Amino acid sequence: MPSEKSGNFYLNLIISVGLIVACGVWFVWYYVAPEYYGVGYAPVQPIPFAHAIHVGALKLDCRYCHTDVDKSWYANLPDSKTCMNCHQELLPETPRLKVLFDSVKKNEPIPWIKVHDLPDYVYFNHEIHVHSGVGCVECHGRVDKMVRTQQVKSLSMAFCLACHRNPASYLRPPAKVYDMTWSMDDEARLELGRKLQEELNIVASDDCSDCHR
Ligand code: HEC
Ligand code: HEC
Ligand code: HEC
Ligand code: HEC
Ligand code: HEC
Repeated sequence: MPSEKSGNFYLNLIISVGLIVACGVWFVWYYVAPEYYGVGYAPVQPIPFAHAIHVGALKLDCRYCHTDVDKSWYANLPDSKTCMNCHQELLPETPRLKVLFDSVKKNEPIPWIKVHDLPDYVYFNHEIHVHSGVGCVECHGRVDKMVRTQQVKSLSMAFCLACHRNPASYLRPPAKVYDMTWSMDDEARLELGRKLQEELNIVASDDCSDCHR
C-alpha cells in the first residue's frame, strides 16, 4: 500500500531531522558552553564577595580565608565566622550581606557555588604545589583583581602537562606562592627555577599515575 509506505517515509524523515537537530544542540551545548571549557566560568554567588576588595585593596593573605591550602589537598573556603571578624562591625546593614548574617543566625554554611571542578578521575593536591613553589596565580590568575571569582585557565590535561614536563620556568621561591604580583624576567626566572627544582627535588614527569590513580 503506497500511502502507508510514504507515511513511514515521512515519519522516518521527521525522526532523522529531529535526531540531527538534537545532536547539533548537544554538540554546541557540550563544546561551547563555558562550563565545559571552564575558562571564563564565573557563577553569580549568593553573596557578591570580591577578592578585588579583600585581597587587592585590603591585602589579606590567601591563608586568612583558605586556611588549609598549604596543609591539605583541598583548599577550603572560609566559614562565616571568618567574615564576621570584620563584618560584625562593618556594613552590618547592607542587604548584600544578608545571606552572611542568615548563615550565622541559622548556623548553616553559605551555599557558595563551586567555580573550579576537575573530573573525579583526576587526582589533584594543593599542598604539594604550594610546597613545590607553584604560585596560586599559575592556575587561578590574578584573583586579587577579580570582582567576581572566575576560572581563567583551562585546567585541561595539556595545561597540567605543560608544566609537569618542564617545571623549571614556572617555579618561584615557596615564600612567594601567595604573592599575585611577584615577577622576574624570563631568563633569570629559568635560572632560579632550575636551582629551585634541584633544591626541592622536583622531578619532571608525565607518569599517568601521578594524576590518575
Ligand atoms: C576574605 C577571605 C578570602 C581571602 C583573603 C581570599 N579568598 Fe579566595 N575565596 C573566598 C570566598 C568566600 C570564596 C567563595 C566565593 C567565590 O568563589 O568568590 C573564594 C573562592 C576562591 C576561589 C574559587 C574557588 C572555587 O569555587 O573554585 C579561588 C581560586 C580563590 N578563592 C583563590 C584565592 C587566592 C589565590 C587568594 C589569595 C591571593 C584568596 N582566594 C584570598 C574568600 C577569600
Ligand atoms: C579583614 C576584614 C574583612 C574580612 C575578614 C571580610 N571582609 Fe568583606 N569587606 C571588608 C571591607 C573593609 C570592605 C569594604 C567596605 C566598604 O566598601 O566600605 C568589605 C566589603 C565586603 C562586601 C561588599 C559590600 C557592599 O556593600 O558592596 C561584601 C559582600 C563582603 N565584604 C563580604 C565578605 C565575606 C563574604 C567575607 C568572608 C568570606 C568577608 N567579607 C570578610 C572587610 C572584610
Ligand atoms: C597547579 C594548579 C593550582 C595551583 C597552583 C593552585 N590551585 Fe587552587 N585549584 C586548582 C584546581 C585544579 C582546583 C579544582 C580542584 C577540584 O575540582 O578538585 C582548585 C580549586 C581551588 C579552590 C576551591 C576549593 C577546592 O579545593 O576545590 C580554592 C579555594 C583554591 N583552589 C585556592 C587556591 C589557592 C589559595 C592557591 C595558592 C596557595 C591555589 N589554589 C593554587 C588548581 C590549582
Ligand atoms: C605551573 C606548574 C604546574 C601546573 C600547571 C600543575 N602542576 Fe602539578 N605539580 C607541579 C610540581 C612542581 C609538582 C611537584 C612534583 C615533584 O615533587 O616531583 C606537582 C605535583 C603534582 C602532583 C603530585 C604528584 C606526585 O608525585 O604525587 C599531582 C597529583 C599534580 N601535580 C596534579 C596536577 C594536576 C591535575 C594539574 C592540572 C590541573 C597540575 N598538577 C598542574 C607543578 C604543576
Ligand atoms: C599532571 C596531571 C596529569 C597527568 C600526568 C596525566 N593526566 Fe590525563 N588528565 C588530566 C586532567 C586534568 C584531565 C581532565 C581534562 C579535562 O577535564 O578536560 C585528564 C583526562 C584524561 C583522559 C580523559 C580524556 C578526555 O579528554 O576526557 C584520559 C583518557 C587521560 N587523561 C589519560 C592519561 C594518560 C594515558 C596519561 C599518561 C600518559 C595521563 N592521562 C597523564 C591530568 C593528567
